[in-house]
Amino acid sequence: MSITVELDKIDIRKLTIDDDTASFDCKEQELNEYIRDEAKKQQRDGAAVVYLAWYDAQLVGFVSFNMSSIRFQNIASQHLPSRTPYPYFPALMIGRVATDKICQNQGVGRLLCLRAVAMAVRLRREIGCQFVILNAKKNSIDFYKRCSFELGMNQPKRRRTPFMYFKLLDIEYCQKCRRELEPYAKFCIFCGTEQTPQSSPSDDPTKSNSTVHPM
Ligand SMILES: CC(C)(COP(=O)(O)OP(=O)(O)OC[C@H]1O[C@@H](n2cnc3c(N)ncnc32)[C@H](O)[C@@H]1OP(=O)(O)O)[C@@H](O)C(=O)NCCC(=O)NCCS
Repeated sequence: MSITVELDKIDIRKLTIDDDTASFDCKEQELNEYIRDEAKKQQRDGAAVVYLAWYDAQLVGFVSFNMSSIRFQNIASQHLPSRTPYPYFPALMIGRVATDKICQNQGVGRLLCLRAVAMAVRLRREIGCQFVILNAKKNSIDFYKRCSFELGMNQPKRRRTPFMYFKLLDIEYCQKCRRELEPYAKFCIFCGTEQTPQSSPSDDPTKSNSTVHPM
């Protein structure tokens, strides 16, 4: 069986103790067992928070998050933020992500990755966060590349689940009222000022704080 999903009608919300995840099947045994049997315990332990994607009362996907960091050696020079005293940068980790086989290849996986980026942007405001990272199964590397993730640098070639990252945009401020802009905002939501493009180091991909833009 397969269904056609309308992405704007997908509801992504945090896993609760009463959610029934038994029907989920992404064709990967380990991930099916995770969402059916382990996710609630992991969430209760504080090891991860899991978000479920629902479409018409049907569980169509999930993504799990936890806190992490990325070492500067793993980041390509054009994505490196300014150096800090620490050898690593704060990151949100996607622990697991999967789409049910009934609706794969319709954009649900990308939506879940976008949710991760949106979550990282919120964390950046609250506690500091510069990257979204994950360990990818080899057969899903191209999927993550389609979602604007980069393969990490300096990792062993034989690594079973290569490490990938997504660099968040640097925070920008309104040119008039100096308050923080929403990511990609053309207008300031506080004073309404239209933002005119400015030549900045982030326009130059050879400069250290250039960024990867999401899909
Ligand atoms: C990998 C997975 C999450 C992708 O989810 P999905 O909902 O099918 O993916 P989407 O429809 O959002 O795909 C986004 C893009 O990636 C492409 N894509 C999807 N799966 C791909 C794959 N395995 N390899 C290469 N490209 C892939 C799509 O064609 C689409 O391309 P587009 O930019 O041209 O539109 C899903 O196939 C899945 O759950 N697989 C089993 C579990 C798994 O491997 N999870 C990842 C663990 S690291």
